[in-house]
Amino acid sequence: MEIKKIGIVAMTGFMGQGIAQLCAQVGYRVVGSSRSEQRLAASIEAIDGRLARSAAKGSITDQERKETMARILGTTSLKDFAGCDLVIESAVEIMDVKKRIFAELDTLCPKETILATNTSSLPVIEIAGATGRMDRVIGLHFLTPVPQSRLLEIVKTIATSDATLEAGRIFTRSLAKEMIISKDFPGFVFNRISVAFLLTAVRVLESGIATREEIDNSMKLGLDHPIGPLALLDFGGNDVYLHIANALYENLKDATYAPPMLLKQMVAAGWLGRKTGKGFYDYATRT
Ligand SMILES: NC(=O)c1ccc[n+]([C@@H]2O[C@H](COP(=O)([O-])OP(=O)(O)OC[C@H]3O[C@@H](n4cnc5c(N)ncnc54)[C@H](O)[C@@H]3O)[C@@H](O)[C@H]2O)c1
Repeated sequence: MEIKKIGIVAMTGFMGQGIAQLCAQVGYRVVGSSRSEQRLAASIEAIDGRLARSAAKGSITDQERKETMARILGTTSLKDFAGCDLVIESAVEIMDVKKRIFAELDTLCPKETILATNTSSLPVIEIAGATGRMDRVIGLHFLTPVPQSRLLEIVKTIATSDATLEAGRIFTRSLAKEMIISKDFPGFVFNRISVAFLLTAVRVLESGIATREEIDNSMKLGLDHPIGPLALLDFGGNDVYLHIANALYENLKDATYAPPMLLKQMVAAGWLGRKTGKGFYDYATRT
């Protein structure tokens, strides 16, 4: 089945916005959902703002910006996903929320529609189990920033059919991304490795061994990473990484993934990173 129209659940989220933008930029028709009209309008405005900045820099034309935006439709009802060939769920990293969304999508979408989750760490098969089409459920794990990241991690469960996997491969190529295919194990490949690394950086900060800048510079200069681990946590969202760490720790029972106290305290304080203006760094004053 050729994928032409894509649904994005939670287009208002950090990842949902990026996925919607990228899909529309490469020519797909996109329907993106939110539970609130207000947040929906704000997310469409934010995507347009990013495209306008790209147009101002000359990386796209203003005509391309307009055409991309014309391909994005916002909705507050999952019923509008009925005509989609692929639906990508990118809601908060909580199993019950994802299962509820998948159960609803299963009743609303034609049986051919492929349902994908952008989960970072939750078992895809458990999400698939909320549907009557486990063969058509797959993990499509995007990385940030979605439009620029070169990688997409495809997660194949024990029930994902070869045809669904092939559709995932074709879709990934259409976005001009490289892919890796992972089995459905906690954290898959990317987060199994990278979350251990990020949490270690928090523990180093917590133990007072070095400053946040020294920790970030050690990886930027020593390993040639474009961004340090603490800045990366702020970029992706400390709450998001706390959810991921909790899920990995619960599923692997490996202390490597136990969330550091500092991370828990920062999330409790609302210091989620760039999205709240404060995290390991202060974005309001740009220190
Ligand atoms: N942030 C990252 O770096 C990153 C990278 C890869 C994958 N992911 C995954 O993407 C997903 C979204 O993460 P994000 O960073 O965009 O988070 P976010 O906090 O920016 O967005 C979460 C979205 O979920 C919506 N939401 C919350 N409760 C909901 C509910 N009950 N029903 C429907 N929608 C609900 C929110 O309104 C919001 O739009 C998660 O599964 C996360 O693990 C995140």
